[in-house]
Amino acid sequence: MTDVTQRAAELRALLNRYAHEYYVLDTPTVPDAEYDRLFRELEAIERDHPELKTPDTPTLRVGGAILPAFASVRHVVPMLSIRTETDVTAAGALAFDASVRRELGLAESDPPVEYAAELKFDGLAINLRFEGGVLVQAATRGDGATGEDVTQNIRTIRQIPLRLSGEAPAVLEVRGEVYMRRDDFEKLNARQRELGGKLFVNPRNTAAGAVRQLDPALAAQRPLSFFAYGLGEVQGWPMQPTSHAGMLDALAGFGFPVCADRVVAQGGEGLVDFHAAIAAKRDALPFDIDGVVYKVNNLALQRELGFRTREPRWAVAHKYPAQEALTVVESIGVQVGRTGALTPVARLQPVFVGGVTVTNATLHNQDEVDRKDVRVGDTVIVRRAGDVIPEVVGVVLERRPMVDVPGGDLFNPAQQPAHPPYRLPSACPVCGSHVVREEGEAVTRCAGGLICSAQRKEAIRHFAGRRMMDIEGLGERYIDNLVELDYVHSVADLYRLTLDDLLEMKRRADERDGATPDTVLAGKVTTKWAENILAGIAASRHPPLARLLFALGIRHVGESTAKTLADWLGSLAIIRRAPAPLLRVLPDVGATVAESIAEFFAEPQNETVIDALRAAGVVPNDEHALSAKLRGLLAVDELLAACGIARLTPVRARQLAERAGSLGAVAGLDEDGIAALGLPADVAAALADWLAQEGHRQSLGALEALRAELLDRLPQLADGAGRLEGLTLVLTGTLPTLSRDDAQALIEAAGGKVSGSVSKKTHYVVAGEAAGSKLAKAEELGVPVLDEDGLRQLLAGDAAA
Ligand code: IVH
Repeated sequence: MTDVTQRAAELRALLNRYAHEYYVLDTPTVPDAEYDRLFRELEAIERDHPELKTPDTPTLRVGGAILPAFASVRHVVPMLSIRTETDVTAAGALAFDASVRRELGLAESDPPVEYAAELKFDGLAINLRFEGGVLVQAATRGDGATGEDVTQNIRTIRQIPLRLSGEAPAVLEVRGEVYMRRDDFEKLNARQRELGGKLFVNPRNTAAGAVRQLDPALAAQRPLSFFAYGLGEVQGWPMQPTSHAGMLDALAGFGFPVCADRVVAQGGEGLVDFHAAIAAKRDALPFDIDGVVYKVNNLALQRELGFRTREPRWAVAHKYPAQEALTVVESIGVQVGRTGALTPVARLQPVFVGGVTVTNATLHNQDEVDRKDVRVGDTVIVRRAGDVIPEVVGVVLERRPMVDVPGGDLFNPAQQPAHPPYRLPSACPVCGSHVVREEGEAVTRCAGGLICSAQRKEAIRHFAGRRMMDIEGLGERYIDNLVELDYVHSVADLYRLTLDDLLEMKRRADERDGATPDTVLAGKVTTKWAENILAGIAASRHPPLARLLFALGIRHVGESTAKTLADWLGSLAIIRRAPAPLLRVLPDVGATVAESIAEFFAEPQNETVIDALRAAGVVPNDEHALSAKLRGLLAVDELLAACGIARLTPVRARQLAERAGSLGAVAGLDEDGIAALGLPADVAAALADWLAQEGHRQSLGALEALRAELLDRLPQLADGAGRLEGLTLVLTGTLPTLSRDDAQALIEAAGGKVSGSVSKKTHYVVAGEAAGSKLAKAEELGVPVLDEDGLRQLLAGDAAA
C-alpha cells in the first residue's frame, strides 16, 4: 500500500467511526471542525486519485449523479408485511398470544411464550445489502418481491453504516425503516416557509418522497433517520443469534441504530403492559409511530410457526385508537398572530382525543374553511397528532343542523343549513383595522401593525421567548397587561420599565379585574415578582446577534436565516442597511426573504424600535467584522442576478456585468447603451423595462455605493489580520468618523477583542467625544488611551502609545 492509499483508508475508517458516534450513539468524540477537516482531506485525496474511491467512502454521503430512473431489485428473501390486529384495546394483544399458543399446540399449563415487543415505525421499509461488510445496495420494499434500487439516496443517511463494524458475515441483508424525526420535519418546514417553498404534509410522506428522489443531492438535504428491525438474506454468519432480541443487539453491534424502546415480554400480559407503556409515552417520542409490533422472540419457534400466505404467523402489528374524535363546533373565533395573520379557530364542545381534552381546533385560514365548509353547529372530526395544535379534519354533513324553509311539501319539507358558511371578518377583531388578503396568499392579515394590541402582544411574546431574547419571568399574563394598560408599546419599551411601573401595572390590572388580593388591601405589596422580571429583562441585554434578529420577528426570518445574516454580515448596523439584492446573494436567502428583511428595516416604525433598543443598551455580544467570504458574493454579476430582472439568467448577468462594467454603469444605461451591450433582444427589452420602473435606477446606484463601501472594508480587514491578536480594547465616547460598530469590526478583524468595561487587563481605551467614566477609569489604572487616529495607527501596524 502506498502512503496515500493507506491514508485514505485511515481517513475512511476514522470518519465512519466518528459518524457512528455522532449520529447513532449520540456521543461525539471529536469537534465538528475536526470531522470537517478530515473529510476535506479525504475529498482532496479522492479528487487527485479517483481510483481510491471505495463504496464505503463517506464522501459519497453528499449524493451522486441524478438518475433517469431507479433500477429494479429482486429481493432474495421476499419483504413481507405483518398482519394488523383490528382490536386496538388490550384484548388485541391477548388475542395474538392466544393464536400463537394455539398454532404451537401449547396447553394452558405450558409456560408463557417469550416475545420481542418493539415500535411500529412510520416510514418506509428498506433492505440494506452488505457484502464483505460493505453496503453494496439499498432497495425499497416495492411489491415485496421486487423493489427499487435507492442506494445513492440511502448512502446520504448518516445513521446508516457504509461498512459494518466487527466481524461481518459474508452477506448480510438488514431490514428496517427510514423515517423522519418530528423535530427534523418541523425544521425542514420552517426552512421551506422561510424560502417561500411548498410545505411538506407529514414526516412519513416526506421521508418516503426523499428516498424515492431521483436527485440524490436533494435527498441528502432531507434529514432522514433509520431503525433496523429485521434480516433478509444472510450468508456466513457462524454466530448468528437465536432470538430476535439477540439479533437486534448484534445489529447494534454492527453499527446500526436500533430503537431503545423495545422489551422482551413474557406472554400476553407482557404484551399488554408494553402496549400501555408505549401509549403513555407516545406523544413524547421524537418520531411518529404507527402502533407497536409483537414478534415471537425465539427464531426456531418463528420458523415453526411459518407464514400464512404473505404474512408471518409469528408477528403482529397492534395499533392505537385513532387520535381523532367527533365533537360539535360551538362557535368560530379568530386569533390574531404576531404578523397580523387572522386564524379562524373552532371553539368545540370539550372532547377527549389522544389523551387530552381539546376545546379549540385550528381551521388554518379561509381557504381551509371553504374547502371543509365548517359551520357553527357542525359535528366535526378533530385530530390531534403529537403535540401539534389540534385541527378540524372534516365535517360529518349528515349531522349538520338544518331548518325548514318555505316551499316543499309535507313529505319533502324544504330545508337549508341552520348556519351560513363561515367568513373571516373584514375588520380585525382586536383593533378594528381593515384586513387584507394578498393575491395568491392564503393568509388574511390585520393591516393595523403596531396599533393592533394583539400583534404587539404576540410580537413581545415572541421577542421574550426562550429561543429569542430568553427573558425570564416575563409570562404571558404580564405581557398582556403591559400592552393592554399601555406600559409597553414596542419591545424597546421593556428596557425602560421601572419597578414602579410594574407595581402600578399590577395594581391597575387587579383593580380592573376585581382581583386585588386581600394582602394588598391590607397594605402589603409584594415586589419580588417585579424584581425578577426586571432582572430577566436586564440579563437579556447582550444576546448573540442571531437571536436578536430572530427575536425582532421579521417575517420569513427564522433561526437559520437569522444565523446566516449574523454570520455573513456580522453587525446589525450593516444588516439594517442592506438592500434586498445584497441579502439575496447570501446562501439560502431567497427573493421573498430578502424583500421581507429589507422592507422590515426600511419601515420607519421598525427603525425607531431598533434605535430605541440600542439606546436602551441592547447590544449583541458577538458582532464582528464582515465575513471575508463575502467578497465572492459581492461580484457585480451576482448582485445583478439578485435584482430580480426578468430573463437575466446567471449567464446573462455575467455578460451584462462584463460589458457594462459596474452597477452604476447599468443604472445609467439609456436605450442606445442597452442596445450597444449586444444582449439578446428579449433580455435587452426586459432590462429596459426594469430600468424604466420607478426607483430601480436609484436602488442600483445605492447598491453600488454600499458594495464599494463593503469591499473597501474587506481588504483593510485582511491587511490588519492578526495585528491586534491577544489585545483587549474598550471603546468609549463618539469617534470623529468611525461608528462604534465600525471601530469594533476593525478591531475584531485584526484579531483584537472589544470589551465593555475597563480593567487592569485592558490594553487600550479608545476614547472619543464625551467619553465618560471609562476614560476616568483608564487614567486611574494607567491604561493607555487612544483617539481614532491612534486606533488607525495601531491597526496599520504603527507602534502607538
Ligand atoms: S417486521 C415479516 N418490524 O411495517 C415481518 N416491520 O407490514 C416484516 N414496520 O412495511 C416486518 N416497524 O416497514 C417490522 N418494528 C417493525 C416495524 C415494521 C415498522 C413496517 C415495515 C413494513 C410494515 C409491515
